[in-house]
Amino acid sequence: MATIEQVKALMRMHFEDNDERFRTIALQIAAHEAKIGHAASAREIKDLVLSSKQTARRKVIKYSGKYDMIEQRPADAAMSDLILSENLEDRIKRIVTEYRKKELLRKNGLKNRSKIMLTGAPGTGKTMTASVLANELGLPLNVIQIEKLVTKYMGETSVKLRQVFDCIEEIQGVYLFDEFDAIGSDRSLDNDVGEMRRILNSFLQFLENDDSYSVIIAATNNPQILDKALFRRFDDVLDYAIPDEQQIQRIMIAKLDGLVAEDIFKKQMYQYMVGLSHADIVRACEEAVKYSLIYEEKITRKLLQICIQDRKSLYQFREA
Ligand SMILES: Nc1ncnc2c1ncn2[C@@H]1O[C@H](COP(=O)(O)OP(=O)(O)OP(=O)(O)O)[C@@H](O)[C@H]1O
Ligand SMILES: [Mg+2]
Repeated sequence: MATIEQVKALMRMHFEDNDERFRTIALQIAAHEAKIGHAASAREIKDLVLSSKQTARRKVIKYSGKYDMIEQRPADAAMSDLILSENLEDRIKRIVTEYRKKELLRKNGLKNRSKIMLTGAPGTGKTMTASVLANELGLPLNVIQIEKLVTKYMGETSVKLRQVFDCIEEIQGVYLFDEFDAIGSDRSLDNDVGEMRRILNSFLQFLENDDSYSVIIAATNNPQILDKALFRRFDDVLDYAIPDEQQIQRIMIAKLDGLVAEDIFKKQMYQYMVGLSHADIVRACEEAVKYSLIYEEKITRKLLQICIQDRKSLYQFREA
C-alpha cells in the first residue's frame, strides 16, 4: 500500500495539475510496492503510468505583441523541494513574508523587498528559486527572454527594456531576468559605441523607479563581470553555493527514501558527492531511481556510486 504521504502528494499534484510530478510519485509508489514484495501491483502501476498519454505537457505561454520577449512558465516548485543553507532559506522566506505584508509596509511608507539578485554556481537553485517564489506568492512566473531583449540594433534594446518594465507594472508577477550578465556586465567592458552602457543605465533607472507590486529577480552565475553599481540597487543579493554534506543528505533523503536496498544515507556517501551541484545530485539520484524501476532492483550503494561517477565524468570530459 502507498503511504498516506504518497497519497497526499499524489492529490496535491493532481490539484496543481502537475502531470510530471504526478507520474514521478506514481512511479515511486510502484518502486515501493516492488520493494515490499508486491511485484504484481508494482507492475500494474508502472504499466498504467507508462501507457498513459503524456498529456498536460508543461505549458509555456508566450505574451504576444509588445511583450513578446516575455514568456510565462509553469511555477510548480514548492518551497519544501528547494534545499539551501539556512541563511538563504531565511532570506527567501523574508521575501515571501514581506510580500504578504506589503500593504501594511506601504501604509507606513516602506516597501517590501522585491528586487532580488541571485548569484552563484550553476545548478544550485537560482532559477528554481524564482519558480518557488512565484508559486508561494501565487503569481505568474514571467521569464524575460534575454536573447530577444538584447539585439544588435542600436536603440532597440532600450525600447524593449522599457516595454518589459511596462509589463512589470501592468501585469503583477515574478519577473526573472535569467542570465542577467548579458545586460548587467561591467560598463567598462563595453564596445566603443557604448550601447551596453546605455542599456545598463536604463535598466538601473527603471529598477530604481519601479514601484510595482511585481517581484523582479536577476540571476547570474557570472557575478564577477557585473557592474558594481548594480548590487546596491537590489533589495537583497543572494549568493548560491554548491551543497554541503547536510544539504546533500537532505537531497538524497528527498529523492531516495524508501527505495533503497541498504542504508546508503551515510557520511561516506555524502562526502563522495561533495563538489557536485544540487542539480547533479538530483540527476544522479533520479538516474538511480530509473535504473531501479526498469530492472526492478532496489537502489544499492554501488548503483548510486555509478550514477554519481557518471555525473562526475561529464565534467572531466568537459575540462579535458
Ligand atoms: N537548491 C536546490 N534544491 C533542490 N533541487 C535543486 C536545487 N538546485 C538545483 N536543483 C535541481 O536542479 C535543477 C536545475 O536547477 P536550477 O535551474 O535552479 O539551477 P541554476 O542555479 O538556475 O543554474 P544555472 O546557473 O545553470 O542557470 C532544478 O530544477 C532542481 O531539480
Ligand atoms: Mg538558472
